[in-house]
Amino acid sequence: MAKHFLLLNLIVVSFCCAVLAFESSPMQDFCVADPASTVKVNGLACKDPKSVISEDFFFSGLHLAGNTSNTFGSKVTRVNATQIPGLNTLGISLARVDYAPWGVNPPHTHPRATEIFTVLEGSLQVGFVTSNPENRLITKVLKKGDVFVFPIGLVHYQRNVGYGNAVAVAALSSQNPGIISIANAVFGSEPAIATDILVKAFQVDETVVAQIQSKF
Ligand SMILES: *[C@@H]1O[C@H](CO)[C@@H](O)[C@H](O)[C@H]1NC(C)=O
Ligand SMILES: *[C@@H]1O[C@H](CO)[C@@H](O)[C@H](O)[C@H]1NC(C)=O
Repeated sequence: MAKHFLLLNLIVVSFCCAVLAFESSPMQDFCVADPASTVKVNGLACKDPKSVISEDFFFSGLHLAGNTSNTFGSKVTRVNATQIPGLNTLGISLARVDYAPWGVNPPHTHPRATEIFTVLEGSLQVGFVTSNPENRLITKVLKKGDVFVFPIGLVHYQRNVGYGNAVAVAALSSQNPGIISIANAVFGSEPAIATDILVKAFQVDETVVAQIQSKF
Protein backbone atom coordinates (compact mmCIF):
# COMPACT_ATOMS: atom_id res chain seq x y z
CA MET A 1 0.00 0.00 0.00
CA ALA A 2 2.71 2.43 1.09
CA LYS A 3 4.73 1.38 -1.93
CA HIS A 4 1.83 2.18 -4.26
CA PHE A 5 1.35 5.50 -2.58
CA LEU A 6 5.02 6.35 -3.10
CA LEU A 7 4.83 5.39 -6.77
CA LEU A 8 1.72 7.49 -7.26
CA ASN A 9 3.44 10.41 -5.56
CA LEU A 10 6.43 10.04 -7.84
CA ILE A 11 4.20 10.03 -10.93
CA VAL A 12 2.33 13.11 -9.73
CA VAL A 13 5.57 14.96 -8.89
CA SER A 14 7.26 14.17 -12.22
CA PHE A 15 4.10 15.10 -14.15
CA CYS A 16 3.76 18.46 -12.43
CA CYS A 17 7.46 19.26 -12.93
CA ALA A 18 7.33 18.36 -16.61
CA VAL A 19 4.38 20.70 -16.99
CA LEU A 20 6.03 23.51 -15.02
CA ALA A 21 9.16 23.32 -17.17
CA PHE A 22 7.31 25.10 -19.99
CA GLU A 23 5.43 28.36 -20.23
CA SER A 24 1.82 27.87 -19.31
CA SER A 25 -0.91 28.86 -21.75
CA PRO A 26 -2.42 32.28 -21.14
CA MET A 27 -5.81 32.31 -19.44
CA GLN A 28 -6.99 35.42 -21.27
CA ASP A 29 -6.74 36.74 -24.86
CA PHE A 30 -3.70 38.84 -23.97
CA CYS A 31 -1.92 40.65 -21.17
CA VAL A 32 -0.34 43.66 -22.89
CA ALA A 33 2.59 44.67 -20.70
CA ASP A 34 2.13 48.01 -18.98
CA PRO A 35 5.61 49.14 -17.89
CA ALA A 36 4.12 52.17 -16.11
CA SER A 37 1.94 50.17 -13.75
CA THR A 38 3.15 49.66 -10.18
CA VAL A 39 1.11 46.45 -9.79
CA LYS A 40 3.23 43.62 -11.16
CA VAL A 41 2.23 40.04 -11.98
CA ASN A 42 5.21 37.86 -12.95
CA GLY A 43 7.30 40.98 -13.43
CA LEU A 44 4.89 42.82 -15.74
CA ALA A 45 1.39 44.18 -15.27
CA CYS A 46 -1.43 43.91 -17.81
CA LYS A 47 -2.88 46.98 -19.42
CA ASP A 48 -6.61 47.45 -19.09
CA PRO A 49 -7.88 45.45 -22.13
CA LYS A 50 -10.18 48.35 -23.05
CA SER A 51 -7.20 50.66 -23.59
CA VAL A 52 -5.25 48.16 -25.73
CA ILE A 53 -4.52 49.38 -29.28
CA SER A 54 -3.02 47.87 -32.43
CA GLU A 55 0.35 49.54 -31.70
CA ASP A 56 0.64 47.25 -28.63
CA PHE A 57 1.03 44.30 -31.02
CA PHE A 58 3.31 46.05 -33.49
CA PHE A 59 7.01 46.68 -34.05
CA SER A 60 8.73 48.33 -36.98
CA GLY A 61 12.46 48.19 -37.58
CA LEU A 62 13.49 44.65 -38.40
CA HIS A 63 14.46 45.79 -41.91
CA LEU A 64 17.38 47.66 -40.30
CA ALA A 65 20.71 45.80 -40.25
CA GLY A 66 22.48 45.34 -36.92
CA ASN A 67 26.00 46.74 -36.51
CA THR A 68 28.39 43.80 -37.01
CA SER A 69 31.58 45.81 -36.32
CA ASN A 70 32.63 43.75 -33.30
CA THR A 71 34.99 40.85 -32.54
CA PHE A 72 32.46 38.23 -33.65
CA GLY A 73 31.24 39.95 -36.81
CA SER A 74 27.60 39.37 -35.88
CA LYS A 75 24.76 41.23 -34.20
CA VAL A 76 21.49 40.00 -32.70
CA THR A 77 18.54 42.44 -32.70
CA ARG A 78 15.85 41.15 -30.36
CA VAL A 79 12.12 41.64 -30.57
CA ASN A 80 10.36 40.65 -27.36
CA ALA A 81 7.81 42.03 -24.92
CA THR A 82 10.07 45.06 -24.40
CA GLN A 83 9.49 46.10 -28.03
CA ILE A 84 6.01 44.55 -28.43
CA PRO A 85 4.11 44.78 -25.11
CA GLY A 86 1.37 42.56 -26.57
CA LEU A 87 3.82 39.62 -26.69
CA ASN A 88 3.73 39.41 -22.89
CA THR A 89 2.60 35.93 -21.64
CA LEU A 90 2.33 34.55 -25.19
CA GLY A 91 5.44 32.36 -25.05
CA ILE A 92 7.17 33.49 -28.22
CA SER A 93 9.78 36.03 -29.34
CA LEU A 94 11.91 36.91 -32.36
CA ALA A 95 15.37 38.09 -33.33
CA ARG A 96 17.12 39.35 -36.45
CA VAL A 97 20.73 38.23 -36.76
CA ASP A 98 23.23 40.01 -39.02
CA TYR A 99 26.58 38.53 -40.03
CA ALA A 100 29.53 40.24 -41.67
CA PRO A 101 31.43 38.06 -44.17
CA TRP A 102 32.88 35.17 -42.08
CA GLY A 103 31.15 36.52 -38.99
CA VAL A 104 30.20 34.08 -36.24
CA ASN A 105 27.34 33.94 -33.76
CA PRO A 106 29.41 32.04 -31.17
CA PRO A 107 28.27 28.84 -29.40
CA HIS A 108 25.41 29.55 -27.00
CA THR A 109 22.23 27.99 -25.66
CA HIS A 110 18.71 29.17 -24.88
CA PRO A 111 17.73 27.46 -21.63
CA ARG A 112 14.02 28.05 -22.18
CA ALA A 113 13.43 27.95 -25.94
CA THR A 114 13.60 25.98 -29.14
CA GLU A 115 14.66 28.15 -32.05
CA ILE A 116 13.43 27.97 -35.63
CA PHE A 117 15.84 29.83 -37.87
CA THR A 118 15.22 31.21 -41.38
CA VAL A 119 17.96 32.54 -43.67
CA LEU A 120 16.82 35.68 -45.51
CA GLU A 121 20.11 36.56 -47.20
CA GLY A 122 23.46 34.89 -47.75
CA SER A 123 24.83 31.52 -46.78
CA LEU A 124 25.38 30.23 -43.24
CA GLN A 125 26.94 27.13 -41.77
CA VAL A 126 24.94 26.23 -38.66
CA GLY A 127 25.25 23.50 -36.08
CA PHE A 128 24.17 22.17 -32.71
CA VAL A 129 25.67 19.50 -30.44
CA THR A 130 23.63 16.70 -28.85
CA SER A 131 23.87 15.84 -25.13
CA ASN A 132 26.47 13.59 -23.47
CA PRO A 133 27.80 11.06 -24.11
CA GLU A 134 27.37 11.29 -27.91
CA ASN A 135 28.00 15.05 -28.31
CA ARG A 136 27.26 14.65 -31.99
CA LEU A 137 27.57 17.79 -34.11
CA ILE A 138 24.52 18.19 -36.34
CA THR A 139 25.56 20.70 -38.98
CA LYS A 140 24.43 22.03 -42.34
CA VAL A 141 25.13 24.83 -44.79
CA LEU A 142 22.01 26.94 -45.33
CA LYS A 143 21.19 29.31 -48.14
CA LYS A 144 18.53 31.94 -48.62
CA GLY A 145 15.08 30.58 -47.75
CA ASP A 146 16.37 27.59 -45.78
CA VAL A 147 14.98 26.86 -42.33
CA PHE A 148 16.76 25.04 -39.49
CA VAL A 149 15.80 24.09 -35.91
CA PHE A 150 17.95 24.34 -32.78
CA PRO A 151 16.28 22.17 -30.09
CA ILE A 152 15.76 23.70 -26.65
CA GLY A 153 18.85 23.85 -24.42
CA LEU A 154 21.40 22.55 -26.96
CA VAL A 155 24.61 24.44 -27.73
CA HIS A 156 24.46 25.93 -31.22
CA TYR A 157 26.18 28.48 -33.47
CA GLN A 158 26.12 30.01 -36.95
CA ARG A 159 28.91 31.18 -39.24
CA ASN A 160 28.67 33.22 -42.41
CA VAL A 161 30.37 31.17 -45.13
CA GLY A 162 29.51 33.54 -47.95
CA TYR A 163 31.45 36.50 -49.28
CA GLY A 164 28.68 39.01 -48.58
CA ASN A 165 26.59 39.88 -45.54
CA ALA A 166 24.09 37.34 -44.26
CA VAL A 167 20.78 37.90 -42.49
CA ALA A 168 18.53 35.47 -40.60
CA VAL A 169 15.41 35.65 -38.49
CA ALA A 170 15.13 33.41 -35.43
CA ALA A 171 11.79 32.66 -33.77
CA LEU A 172 12.02 31.38 -30.19
CA SER A 173 9.43 29.42 -28.24
CA SER A 174 9.65 31.62 -25.15
CA GLN A 175 8.92 35.20 -24.27
CA ASN A 176 12.21 35.14 -22.33
CA PRO A 177 14.40 32.45 -23.97
CA GLY A 178 17.56 33.39 -22.07
CA ILE A 179 21.01 33.32 -23.69
CA ILE A 180 24.03 31.54 -22.22
CA SER A 181 27.12 32.28 -24.30
CA ILE A 182 29.43 29.37 -23.54
CA ALA A 183 32.73 31.29 -23.56
CA ASN A 184 31.31 34.18 -21.50
CA ALA A 185 29.65 31.90 -18.98
CA VAL A 186 32.72 29.73 -18.38
CA PHE A 187 35.58 32.22 -18.78
CA GLY A 188 33.85 35.52 -18.06
CA SER A 189 31.78 34.81 -14.95
CA GLU A 190 31.78 37.32 -12.10
CA PRO A 191 33.53 36.31 -9.87
CA ALA A 192 35.66 33.99 -12.00
CA ILE A 193 35.46 30.19 -11.73
CA ALA A 194 38.62 29.04 -9.88
CA THR A 195 41.55 28.55 -12.28
CA ASP A 196 42.32 25.00 -11.06
CA ILE A 197 38.77 23.98 -11.99
CA LEU A 198 39.15 25.34 -15.53
CA VAL A 199 42.66 23.81 -15.81
CA LYS A 200 41.23 20.36 -15.05
CA ALA A 201 38.04 20.82 -17.05
CA PHE A 202 39.78 21.98 -20.22
CA GLN A 203 43.05 20.05 -19.72
CA VAL A 204 45.21 23.09 -20.37
CA ASP A 205 47.68 25.00 -18.20
CA GLU A 206 47.01 28.13 -16.16
CA THR A 207 48.42 30.56 -18.72
CA VAL A 208 45.93 29.35 -21.31
CA VAL A 209 43.05 29.80 -18.84
CA ALA A 210 44.30 33.29 -17.94
CA GLN A 211 44.62 34.19 -21.61
CA ILE A 212 41.04 33.14 -22.41
CA GLN A 213 39.70 34.80 -19.24
CA SER A 214 41.34 38.07 -20.27
CA LYS A 215 39.21 38.17 -23.45
CA PHE A 216 35.87 37.85 -21.62
C1 LIG B 1 29.24 50.23 -35.39
O1 LIG B 1 29.94 49.91 -34.22
C2 LIG B 1 31.28 50.40 -34.20
C3 LIG B 1 31.97 49.80 -32.98
O2 LIG B 1 31.22 49.99 -31.82
C4 LIG B 1 31.25 51.89 -34.22
O3 LIG B 1 32.58 52.40 -34.23
C5 LIG B 1 30.51 52.37 -35.47
O4 LIG B 1 30.39 53.77 -35.45
C6 LIG B 1 29.14 51.75 -35.55
N1 LIG B 1 28.55 52.05 -36.84
C7 LIG B 1 27.33 52.56 -36.96
C8 LIG B 1 26.86 52.78 -38.34
O5 LIG B 1 26.61 52.79 -35.99
C1 LIG C 1 14.15 42.06 -24.75
O1 LIG C 1 15.09 42.64 -25.62
C2 LIG C 1 15.89 43.66 -25.02
C3 LIG C 1 16.84 44.16 -26.07
O2 LIG C 1 16.14 44.73 -27.11
C4 LIG C 1 16.65 43.11 -23.84
O3 LIG C 1 17.34 44.17 -23.20
C5 LIG C 1 15.69 42.45 -22.85
O4 LIG C 1 16.44 41.82 -21.84
C6 LIG C 1 14.84 41.43 -23.56
N1 LIG C 1 13.86 40.91 -22.64
C7 LIG C 1 13.69 39.61 -22.48
C8 LIG C 1 12.62 39.22 -21.53
O5 LIG C 1 14.36 38.78 -23.08
